[in-house]
Amino acid sequence: EPLTIGVDVGGTRIKAGLVAGDGSLRATRVRDSPGDSAEAVAQAVVDVVGDLRSAAGDTEVAGVGVAAAGFVDHAEGVVLFAPHLPWREEPLRDRLSALLDLPVGVDNDANAAAWAEHRFGAGRGQDEMVMITLGTGLGGAHLAGGRLQRGRHGLAGEYGHMVVVPDGRDCPCGRRGCWEQYASGTALRRAGRAALATGGASAEALLGACGGMASRLQGEHVTRAALAGDLLSVGLLAETGRWLGLGLANLAAALDPACVVVGGGVIEGGELVLGPAREALTAGVPGAGRWPVPEVRSAALGNSAGLIGAADLVRTSGRPTPAGG
Ligand code: BGC
Ligand code: NA
Ligand code: ZN
Repeated sequence: EPLTIGVDVGGTRIKAGLVAGDGSLRATRVRDSPGDSAEAVAQAVVDVVGDLRSAAGDTEVAGVGVAAAGFVDHAEGVVLFAPHLPWREEPLRDRLSALLDLPVGVDNDANAAAWAEHRFGAGRGQDEMVMITLGTGLGGAHLAGGRLQRGRHGLAGEYGHMVVVPDGRDCPCGRRGCWEQYASGTALRRAGRAALATGGASAEALLGACGGMASRLQGEHVTRAALAGDLLSVGLLAETGRWLGLGLANLAAALDPACVVVGGGVIEGGELVLGPAREALTAGVPGAGRWPVPEVRSAALGNSAGLIGAADLVRTSGRPTPAGG
């Protein structure tokens, strides 16, 4: 059976892997995302694909699926806009097809992650499902009847850019107060740095976690300190969780999913994020206790969900197949 290659191009990192038909990984590669130009991003994808093709040895590689962190016109393979990458009307599929001697498919990264979780992870057997990824940005996807809902141009699911605070924080999408400015790894980092700037004895553990330099603090430092018991960091994860829950209550009202799968780096915080999220979701749904609150689950495939989903989408074209395939 041939393998397919999945490449997840995020705002911070490119994660790639050789993926088998059962969703298992045969080899993986990670590198930083080049921030300078669309050409540099394409070249990085080409390099990592070449590397994985060598790793495949004699096994046939049937195609390349790209999970892109941006507004993807799926049918055209064009990234119309990316808040965190240098893509503006980027013909990603055609650019890559010209450089690679393989079929290429391009999907939104959160759509790809949702597909992977549905096929092989926490969303197995869940045909009415919402996926949220909390990384550099907030990604979203909706499955109904076991199929990805794409909308007219493939852009459906850009939940990270729904406004939750009128005139709130600036977002690189051009709006203000977008959900991802309050619930994402970037938002967690901002909250952590703000807490360090306020200083005080309670910030000591968190300051230690980033080597004493607030400007080096990343979201994962907050998560690690929280898991080690630092109360300030626990509070920051809870705040992220409450923002997550608020948006989920809005999505529940719009989409009525049975289950929400939450992935991305921030979810390393586990129940420290999901507990407060469930509380805010339950308190936030309309109908004063009568709305059936969707179940909230942690993603099962970790940081590989996007690349596994992209690889599987080129293989299956997103058709529902028996789970585990
Ligand atoms: C982008 C989405 C992407 C998400 C997660 C958002 O800022 O608009 O397209 O899915 O980040 O990477
Ligand atoms: Na999406
Ligand atoms: Zn935005």
